Amino acid sequence: MRLAKFLAHAGVASRRAAEDVVRAGRVTVGGEVITDPARDVDATSGVAVDGRMLEGPEERVVVALNKPSGVVSTARDTHGRRTVVDLVDLPGARLYPVGRLDVDTTGLLLLTNDGELAERLLHPRYELPRTYRARVAGGRLSPRALRALREGVELEDGRTAPAGVREVRAGLLELTLREGRKRQVKRMCDAVGHSVQALERTRFGPLDLRGLASGRWRRLTPAEVERLRA
Ligand code: URA
Repeated sequence: MRLAKFLAHAGVASRRAAEDVVRAGRVTVGGEVITDPARDVDATSGVAVDGRMLEGPEERVVVALNKPSGVVSTARDTHGRRTVVDLVDLPGARLYPVGRLDVDTTGLLLLTNDGELAERLLHPRYELPRTYRARVAGGRLSPRALRALREGVELEDGRTAPAGVREVRAGLLELTLREGRKRQVKRMCDAVGHSVQALERTRFGPLDLRGLASGRWRRLTPAEVERLRA
């Protein structure tokens, strides 16, 4: 298999990030530095990253976390803050988050050591629906504001795709988006004059938060992983 793919399967990074790791000269195969991500390797080739031998594909796991506020969703934080990876105590698995939630956003976040799956879940082509509950300022939305959110609002990085939007009650919206731009829900709500005061993601594709208290995580079952892949 291609070297970058091998690294992704081994949990080093996503496939694209693994290509950069290879090009940076950090990978050796049988003791020789290889900078071609397409080099053909297998578990017997002796692949090492930064001098550390990889043992071939580690068991692939996908974890669902109910992210609390105040925790960053990167694998490592340069300011020493607590990360979502710190919350998942799963020895031996090098997990990284599938996409990001803002530090003050709570709710469902997946983590995995399966770089290929992570990349697919985030790829715009698959338009995986993500559902959010947003507490917003300004009371009830006008029919016009609701229509704008549903049909698309103009943001500085372009118009948003059609979204499912329901006003659960005054000041509480449920939005289902099929794209995942940075701070998208907050920017959409700002654009119609209702700033977000609290944001929770309740669904990601076929998964929801049921049974998962804040700060808790669980491994997905093989059937759930299959449904995600589908
Ligand atoms: N939209 C946002 O504004 N923030 C998030 O964390 C996720 C979606």
